[in-house]
Amino acid sequence: MTPLLTVRDLSMHFGGVAALQGVTFTVARGAITAIIGPNGAGKTTVFNCLTGFYAAAAGVVRLQREEGEIDLMRAVHPTLQPRDYLNPRALARQAYGWMTGGTHKVVRAGVARTFQNVRLFRDMTVLENLLVAQHRLVERRLWAGILRTREYLAAEAAALDRAVAWLELFGMFEDANRLAGELPYGQQRRLEIIRALCTDPVLLCLDEPAAGLNPRETQALSRMILRLRDHHDLTILLIEHDMNLVMNISDHVVVLDHGEVIASGTPAAMQGHPAVLEAYLGVAEPVDGASGGGLREEVVPVSSLPPVPPKPRPPLIIDPSVADIEACPP
Ligand SMILES: Nc1ncnc2c1ncn2[C@@H]1O[C@H](COP(=O)(O)OP(=O)(O)O)[C@@H](O)[C@H]1O
Ligand SMILES: [Mg+2]
Repeated sequence: MTPLLTVRDLSMHFGGVAALQGVTFTVARGAITAIIGPNGAGKTTVFNCLTGFYAAAAGVVRLQREEGEIDLMRAVHPTLQPRDYLNPRALARQAYGWMTGGTHKVVRAGVARTFQNVRLFRDMTVLENLLVAQHRLVERRLWAGILRTREYLAAEAAALDRAVAWLELFGMFEDANRLAGELPYGQQRRLEIIRALCTDPVLLCLDEPAAGLNPRETQALSRMILRLRDHHDLTILLIEHDMNLVMNISDHVVVLDHGEVIASGTPAAMQGHPAVLEAYLGVAEPVDGASGGGLREEVVPVSSLPPVPPKPRPPLIIDPSVADIEACPP
């Protein structure tokens, strides 16, 4: 079966830093694919390139939809052909693209994402955050809004229904009228996922969704991600550091290190893969399977550390006016 997403030879540079070098992987339809790797490996940069936040230096990102294949990078950052310079419509389209950016085209194609650091409209309510996210699905013509046409009202009601349905599923309906910025951190992360879901995606990209969550919240998140895959026809691309979560719910794991894919395969295969162990631990040694899965942290016993020399005390500088206060009667 053709993969839903194909990423081929993706490269991205920041000045002299090669953040991605020839990254190639696929995301199977209806599967949970995890991208793992040490900090700075290039995971978030992959998301930023495939969702149009960055214009990659090279590579192809293709999304397979029923109506045909969409070249996401060309859709977001189109390049003008020589003949386009004589075509006013092509020039106008390009100018519009420069002014507005292109991430909305990725959303329109069916890809939604969350961010490593929560990015909500903190001064808007939970419900308002979800309605803003659906501007693409709502009738936006000015006259339709002024006249409140039947189509406009129907689209507005559908957006509200969609928001309420996802809020109920995630157990956040009671919070609909709270300000997003006032929610506890775990709920803010959940709201980010709900906001992405409200755009009606086929591919949901989650950047470290478990970061900062407690174990109970992480378990609930795992169940929810599985539910989205199994009952809501969603394909998930997940960046995550929590190895238990990755190993328990992923169908396929892609391992990045220094901007390159060093291994990919099933979670079980990746757990014992020498290149993966080396990237994480700096040494190729088998993972301790008894702990229920997860790449082992290298622990240095405290007793083996060299003693810390005592810090010299800085000289006390006493301001005479302050010292005088001591001598004053109470
Ligand atoms: N906007 C940027 N400007 C400069 N360097 C960046 C930028 N974004 C990422 N990088 C660099 O690219 C590399 C990969 O970063 P990132 O994709 O955030 O890693 P990860 O998500 O795997 O921790 C790092 O060396 C990082 O410093
Ligand atoms: Mg990151």
